[in-house]
Amino acid sequence: MQSSGSNGPNGRLAAGAVRPRRLRRGAAMRRLVRETRLSADQLLYPMFVVPGEGVETEIASLPGQVHRSVDRVAAAAREVAAAGVPGVLLFGRAADKSPDGQEASAPDGATQRAAAVIKAAAPELLVCTDVCLCAYTDHGHCGVLNGGEVDNDASVARIVDTALSHARAGADVVAPSDMMDGRVGAIRAALDAEGFGSTAIMAYAAKYASAFYGPFRDAVDSAPAFGDRRGYQMDPANVREAVREAALDIAEGADIVMVKPALTYLDVVAQVRAACDAPLAAYLVSGEYAAIEAAAARGWLDRRAAALEALTAVARAGADVIITYWAPQAAGWLREDASR
Ligand code: PBG
Repeated sequence: MQSSGSNGPNGRLAAGAVRPRRLRRGAAMRRLVRETRLSADQLLYPMFVVPGEGVETEIASLPGQVHRSVDRVAAAAREVAAAGVPGVLLFGRAADKSPDGQEASAPDGATQRAAAVIKAAAPELLVCTDVCLCAYTDHGHCGVLNGGEVDNDASVARIVDTALSHARAGADVVAPSDMMDGRVGAIRAALDAEGFGSTAIMAYAAKYASAFYGPFRDAVDSAPAFGDRRGYQMDPANVREAVREAALDIAEGADIVMVKPALTYLDVVAQVRAACDAPLAAYLVSGEYAAIEAAAARGWLDRRAAALEALTAVARAGADVIITYWAPQAAGWLREDASR
């Protein structure tokens, strides 16, 4: 081995020659060698649309997030676009719940009308839609029931109808979040057959049965009336299964795969990233957001620093796309940081 000037005896560097702190001196140096560059380009903003008119009310369990009726959606969408966020993910709420969640696929449902309004108001903004039945079924499960159990294939048929109704309304991306088997392939086939070959699918590929969805279920009133979602959502203890789910969804035609939640599943994000080459999204869910917001409201955490650190962690783990309730705000923070 060639010994260089700073090498000590035995060809080893002299004590103190390697000083990682050199690269931490000053903001310019840290910027130069930073490994993960969080950008507004990778954020998607979830928005909640509700039936009715003139509604714009804060969601108690999701501070800073609101329920909006369709007439209030255009202005909000323009603000999101102006903040530099590339897209929104729409969640609807039912006016009338039913056993098979009929309203989920209604052409005049809140999600469908909002999608059309946003495409007209801010055409450059990507409209992604959550495709699920849980906010529309009277029992709160993500599919239809048969003998007290969620019937996979009957549910897939309803989920396909729902995805189609979103595509017809102008959605750029449909995002099935139900975790039924085979739904990605079925949605792809139906979209293609109806001439929606350009509509993309972002599959909630590894969606865990997580306690961190609590605030969201209040927001869309979708807590299951009996039992839980462990028969279709993933066991939090599993990670190989997540890689398998993502590979299956890609094989069925998913354009983007998602891991959800994000913060409590960073290892899953990293492993799916390593195993699959499709773009990977991670969803920093309601409970993860609300926990940080609640601590910040008590002065226990610095809100902005904690939020940006959390988002950076998700990007560092390997997510290309981050779905976050902080999206427009984080875009503003990142812009400020860049000009500092
Ligand atoms: C619907 C759905 C849920 C979330 C996104 N889509 C809730 C659930 O499965 O209970 C959670 C979003 C969040 O917590 O931020 N299936």
